[in-house]
This record gives sequence, structure tokens and C-alpha cells, in this order.
Amino acid sequence: MEDNQTSKENEIIDIKKGYQSHLIHNDKEIFESEMERVFGRCWLFLTHECAIPDYGDYVTTRMGLDEVIVVRQKDNSIKAFLNVCRHRGARICATEAGNTRGFVCNYHGWSYGADGSLQSVPFEEAVYKNRLDKCSHGLYEVPCIESYHGFVYGCLDADAPDFKKYLGDFAWYLDIWMEESGGMELIGPPARCFIHANWKVPSENFVGDAYHVGWTHTSALRSGQSVFAPLAGNTQLPPEGAGLQITTKNGHGLGVLFDAYAGVHGAEMIEEMMAWGMAKHAEIEKKLGEKRGRLYKSHLNGTIFPNNSFLTGSAVFKVWQPHSPTKTEVFTWAMVEKDMPAELKDKISKSVQRTFGIAGYWESEDNDNMESETHMASGTVTRKLKLNSQMGLGGDYQDPDYPGVIGESAIGETSYRGYYRFYNDLINSDSWQEVNDRSSNWITDLTGNK
Ligand code: FES
Ligand SMILES: [Fe+2]
Repeated sequence: MEDNQTSKENEIIDIKKGYQSHLIHNDKEIFESEMERVFGRCWLFLTHECAIPDYGDYVTTRMGLDEVIVVRQKDNSIKAFLNVCRHRGARICATEAGNTRGFVCNYHGWSYGADGSLQSVPFEEAVYKNRLDKCSHGLYEVPCIESYHGFVYGCLDADAPDFKKYLGDFAWYLDIWMEESGGMELIGPPARCFIHANWKVPSENFVGDAYHVGWTHTSALRSGQSVFAPLAGNTQLPPEGAGLQITTKNGHGLGVLFDAYAGVHGAEMIEEMMAWGMAKHAEIEKKLGEKRGRLYKSHLNGTIFPNNSFLTGSAVFKVWQPHSPTKTEVFTWAMVEKDMPAELKDKISKSVQRTFGIAGYWESEDNDNMESETHMASGTVTRKLKLNSQMGLGGDYQDPDYPGVIGESAIGETSYRGYYRFYNDLINSDSWQEVNDRSSNWITDLTGNK
């Protein structure tokens, strides 16, 4: 077999050489393993606290293939339950959001409280003769829920590390905009649509693909005239020192383009966005120092492993929900700073719809690539070929100013490699303990001898 091919029997991820098998984007067996070992184990974004402020407020979403209901409790805590009746397994809640004191099953009428407890069963005494143990038939509760600066994440594996530990070094970056900015909120409900693509294709794109921007997005760059417009048509690279790539132990990664706070917003938004970003930056820099403070006014593209992506500045917040190896449901919110004036929030929300909404002019350019990369992996020979993520391989290093492993330029595939390094450990491990053991040399795995 040639060096540019791989087989299912061999490793699907080659970290040291920077290859992944094309199989990973269109294979039933791999997808099933991902649902167990990635989505069954990792922390997944559920909602933002601002979407469910009051007792009984709920949203429905997904954790891998499992549908869940996320509900604000009487004591202000948040719980999540599988959206399934414990009688014969019908869906409990068919709506995307609302407020309720409980959920009644459509099939036979079992009803559950907002806390998930089974409260009443039609004709219980007559048909069950009081022999039904209601206490053990409450809704199945997601064992781990945490709110991180208002962003609510859940995990189906009780043995998982807590969320902060799961983030590791990545928290240093997230906290800049999630906390130090004064806090964020999401403008919902999220736009929801399907793409015929594997969930990892957009996740890996957001984690670290600055390479495609000047080419794939030529049209969006020319028509929108955002601060990135000079890259249109690959007429130039970002100058040296214009950005960074960062990856961390558990696969979370990001790319930075310095001082580009206005992101993909069109020309009509640049002045107002930059004025807002620069004014707040002056305060943040005093507290965080020059290097870390600068990241607030920069543009960050990133993915919180496995499927939660964001573009700061551009104000885009995404979840890529897997439905099958070739079908992904995309959730898109506009992400705004809490203390922004309502008028600016509204402008940003509309701009996010224009750029990265369902028919956004940036989004539609990406989707064509996402779908073709997925579709091509159905080819009998094609699927055995390798995908290449070697850009910058050998140049990744540690930097005293930035946690994690850093890529040597603004454009590279450092975060792809970090993402798939961790993915490989998850897929090949039977437990979190084993994942951690496998990941113990993650820095040298990525940097070689550096
Ligand atoms: S399946 Fe829900 S009440 Fe029977
Ligand atoms: Fe893109």
C-alpha cells in the first residue's frame, strides 16, 4: 500500500506524521464509536443561562444522539434529563423551548415534574395495583451539569473531570471573553438547520483553519469588505506576527488574528465595533497585561472539543450536532457582551444572520466544502486515502506567554493536530483514566523534541 493510503486495520490517526484517514468523515462504525467514546464522555454545550432565567424555563437540545431537556429548577439550579418517557420510551417534550411546571407524555399520560420526578400515572391504583415504583421511574438525569460564566455544559460520564479541568489551559483564553469582558450572552433561539456533512468537518475547520479564509471566502471578503478583506483571493498572507495558533491537552484549540475585533462584520459595522472593542480593551489590558489583554480586541476562531465552536468579534457561537456520519444539525447563536447597548446587540445579531446564519454568505461558502469533503469519503478507494494536516508540523512549540502548544505562524494546522491527537486517545480508550494515561505525553507528541 502506498504511503498516501491507509486501511481501517491501521491507525486512523497518525499524530506524528500529521495524517488522518478520510474514513473518519463517513464511516458508520467510527461514528458509533464516537457517540460512545466522544459524546458519551466529553462535556457538551447545552444552553446559556440567559435562555432559561426563571423556574420552569426549559430548552431541548442534543447530547450526541440523545435528546435532552434542560430545565431551570425551583432553587435556581439547572438540571438536564433525557427527553424520553420511562414507560414505553416516547419523547416527552416536542417543543424547542418554553416554561412549564412539568412534562406530560403524549402516549399514555405519565407526568413528570420540572425536577424530573415521576409525579402521576393515569389510573395508577387500578392498573398497577400500587406496585409501580415511581421513585425509580423519574426522567433519566444527566449526571454532570456546570455553568461556566453562564454557558451551561453537561456530561453523560460521571467519571469525567470537572469542566474547568476538562478545559485545562484553554480556560486561560476563554475567560478573557467569557468573564473578563464583563460576561457574554447568547441571542436566541438558535437558528437550526441540517448540513450533509460529518460533524467533525466544521469542528476542525473552526478549531484551526485560517488557511481557507482568503480562498474559500473570496466572495464574502469582497462583498462584505470586513477587516479581513485584504486576504480576498489569496492575494496576500497575513503578515508575520499577525496571529497565533494554540492547541491544548484535551483538543480544544483556537486561532488568533491580532487586533481584528470587528471580525467578519461588513464595512457598515467596522467603525462601531472597533470603537467598542478598543475602548473596553484599555480597561481589560490594565488588569490582564499587554499580551493577554490584546487577545480581547483580537479575533479568535476556536472549538471547545468536541463540537462547540466560536468566533469572537464576529460574534458567532455554534454547536455541530451529529445525527449520522453524513448529517449534522447546526445550531447558531449571536454572542454579545452583556454590557453592550441594546441597539448594538441588535445590529450584531442581524449581522451574524447575514454572515454565519442558515443562509449566511460566509456559512454557505463553507458548507459546500463541508459537504464535499464528507461525500467524497464514501468512495471505495477515496476513503482509504489520508487527509493531510502537516502545515507547520515540526514547528510547534511552548511559549512562556501563552498556555498550551503554539503554532509558528498565523496560518497552519497546529490545532487540527491537537484536536485529532486527543480524539485518537478518546477513541482508543475504555475510560477517562486510560484517556489521561494516553495523553500524559501530549506536549512531546505534538512538538517532537522541542
Ligand atoms: S410511553 Fe410515556 S406514558 Fe407510556
Ligand atoms: Fe470558513
